[in-house]
Amino acid sequence: MYKYLHIYESPKLSGSVTISGAKNAALPLIASTILSDNDVEMTNVPNVADVKTLLKLLSNLGARYEFDNNKLKINTSSINNTTAVYEIVKTMRASILVLGPLLARFGECKVSLPGGCAIGARPVDLHLKALETMGADIKIQGGYIHAKGKLKGADIVFDKITVTGTENIVMAAALAEGETKIINAAKEPEVVQLCEVLKSAGVEIKGIGSDELIIKGTSKELLKFPPFSIIPDRIEAGTYLCAGAITNSKITIKNAEPEHMESILLKLKTMGFSFEIKEKEITILPAKKITPVNISTTEYPGFPTDMQAQFMAIATQAQGVSTLEERLFENRFMHVPELNRLGANIKIQGKIATVYGPTKLYGADVMATDLRASSALVLAGLIAKGETKVHRIYHLFRGYENLLDKFKSLGAKMELKEEPLP
Ligand code: EPZ
Repeated sequence: MYKYLHIYESPKLSGSVTISGAKNAALPLIASTILSDNDVEMTNVPNVADVKTLLKLLSNLGARYEFDNNKLKINTSSINNTTAVYEIVKTMRASILVLGPLLARFGECKVSLPGGCAIGARPVDLHLKALETMGADIKIQGGYIHAKGKLKGADIVFDKITVTGTENIVMAAALAEGETKIINAAKEPEVVQLCEVLKSAGVEIKGIGSDELIIKGTSKELLKFPPFSIIPDRIEAGTYLCAGAITNSKITIKNAEPEHMESILLKLKTMGFSFEIKEKEITILPAKKITPVNISTTEYPGFPTDMQAQFMAIATQAQGVSTLEERLFENRFMHVPELNRLGANIKIQGKIATVYGPTKLYGADVMATDLRASSALVLAGLIAKGETKVHRIYHLFRGYENLLDKFKSLGAKMELKEEPLP
């Protein structure tokens, strides 16, 4: 049997949803616990597939953990194996985040190459080059990265801004001998939280939130982490705001962090939507008319690539022509043919998708291809006439906690169904 999401036209939403902890903050923070041999406690950890995969990887290395009710208590002092196996790594490329900490702590490790994924080749060459600059001996054999050596602080410049690349090097530098400077570092809120938590665990880090980080390694002893809470997921929050936008409804998201979402809010404003913002709550108000938008995905604080698909779904309802340029990944338009199956009129030319709106959408069978593309299909299914079936729905559960309950609490009509494999 395999599962698909059956969505019934839900033209109007109402009410509120509470945003979960950020998957892309939790993953590097869980990997960073390798740098400690004490208990580490973190709360607001999203119970999503990717987090469970990383915990499975760490327990495969010998770590012990309890994960319940969004609270994680983990202890990696019992790690007795430093090989991250292909069987686990192939299911989640962010597993590469164990490379830096394993090498920093144990001086040697083997990590399966993550391989590409639906949205692109997603190489890790920048991670490896940076570790070599810090003195690591890196060999690629049999699909594995064999890394060895005592890491020393070094000056590193990233030729491209890389989120997990920056995170890997910050973690490696935390236990390296001396000072590491990272130039052209990523500044996503998830990178900032990793730096703040490492600082609270005793690592001297300067330039947090900027594109230049200076980390002074404490190669003497391992880190001691005080308890911390994962920041809200700005992409999940943006996705639910887009659900309000595409159905032109008033809905509220709770436990969000508006300052992490400025580019998302601004682009929704240019489409005619407005907001009431109170502390950690954001209410989106309907637009008189949904106007077209021009977007170019950019590293933070620019418009996030992880919101491109969701905005494309809204753009199908805009009165006019919108353009969305995907600058970070080479193949992140797989939702386009699926949206067109529902009746959208989207043309792709190289890195730019042009959306001719408004178009009436009609329910159909569609295929999810990656985490964020899947959420765009759910949004479109809300306003498509009739019924929409989103297949390969497992992509969605990688990064959206309690997605069905949250959408249903907003009045969306959908259910998870099973059907025999074709
Ligand atoms: C992180 O992926 C996120 N994942 C992605 O979110 C997000 O889309 C991406 O950053 C961009 O914001 C996590 O944080 C776990 P990159 P990451 O390294 O770090 C190229 C989601 O939906 N590059 O910043 O893998 C790369 O090919 C996921 O939650 C190299 O060429 O992305 C891409 O074109 C999807 N060589 C660009 O840099 C390298 O060594 C940005 O990639 C590394 C990256």
